Amino acid sequence: MPSPRLHPDLLPLDLGQRPTPLQRLDRPSARLGVEIWVKRDDPTGLGLSGNKVRKLAFLMAQAQAAGATAVLTTGGIQSNHCRATAVAARQLGMAPHLLLRGSAPAPGDLDGNLLLDRILGARLRWCDAHGYRDRDALLAAWAAELQAAGERPFLIPEGGSNAVGALGFIDAARELRAQADGLGLDFGAVLCGVGSGGTLAASRPAGCPAGGGRGGLRRPAHLRGAGAAIAAEAAAWGHRPPGPGPDTWSVLEGHQGRGYALSTPEELAMQLRFSRETGLFLDPVYTGKTWVALEREIARNKAAFGKRVLFWHTGGIFGLFGRGAEISAALAQVDGEVL
Ligand SMILES: Cc1ncc(COP(=O)(O)O)c(C=O)c1O
Repeated sequence: MPSPRLHPDLLPLDLGQRPTPLQRLDRPSARLGVEIWVKRDDPTGLGLSGNKVRKLAFLMAQAQAAGATAVLTTGGIQSNHCRATAVAARQLGMAPHLLLRGSAPAPGDLDGNLLLDRILGARLRWCDAHGYRDRDALLAAWAAELQAAGERPFLIPEGGSNAVGALGFIDAARELRAQADGLGLDFGAVLCGVGSGGTLAASRPAGCPAGGGRGGLRRPAHLRGAGAAIAAEAAAWGHRPPGPGPDTWSVLEGHQGRGYALSTPEELAMQLRFSRETGLFLDPVYTGKTWVALEREIARNKAAFGKRVLFWHTGGIFGLFGRGAEISAALAQVDGEVL
């Protein structure tokens, strides 16, 4: 979906806590033999948390400037982006409309992000994986219906990943660069989770190669193409992240495991160990897989990471809820007991 033109004076809304902390992870660093730092985008807010806040600060500014009364977006049934968009819409007095990939669960099975979407009264429509390929057309048709009913709809693409949303991560890259310079740090690599590609494309952060552990839905070639298009459009508006060009980022293959939003007991056990070493939570869809990718890549080829690595924590905590049974099984393996 092409991005609507950006007003040159568009300023981001103040939707989240920034700058986010940059912290050293002492115990994983000692265990893995590489200095590991984390960029904490998990506490950008409570309902409005994670990397999505950065994109929404610009996208919702654009919606507000357009006088939108309704916001439409799309994602998986447990989409963090959809939940964050619904929160931002309600904060700004707009009605959230979400096209979700999946099917409506029984009322007693509401959980995680979907539970929050329902609490916020988001209007929901559902489509299967096949229909989801036409998500942009489905959203456009829904917007036309709303317009005919007197609303002023505003469309946000999957993941908030267009050039307007990317401005949030270009800012994030500048924020990281300033923090790293202030502490006299440089990073041999930066890792973030990849879904729709906007975070990786825009952040390619602070003068170091960036890599993403992909969630499993999109192929690397697609992500590179989508990311490059987003970055090029933002650059045409005069917005460029600091640091090297797009050829310095890559999508790390082989870490998507069983597929999108599916985990193995071993992955969950590695995520549990991370939480016990750091006091931080990972979600099983994005940040958890990114952490697993980081550990495995360090084990495979430590030299590729240099002396210091950055793990970009992009939030997603609500993805943990509704996973009780799987996580209990992993706990039983790790602790040798069933709760
Ligand atoms: C917690 C989390 N991390 C990372 C990502 C990936 O971000 P992007 O869609 O910009 O690739 C997502 C996207 O849905 C997410 O929810």
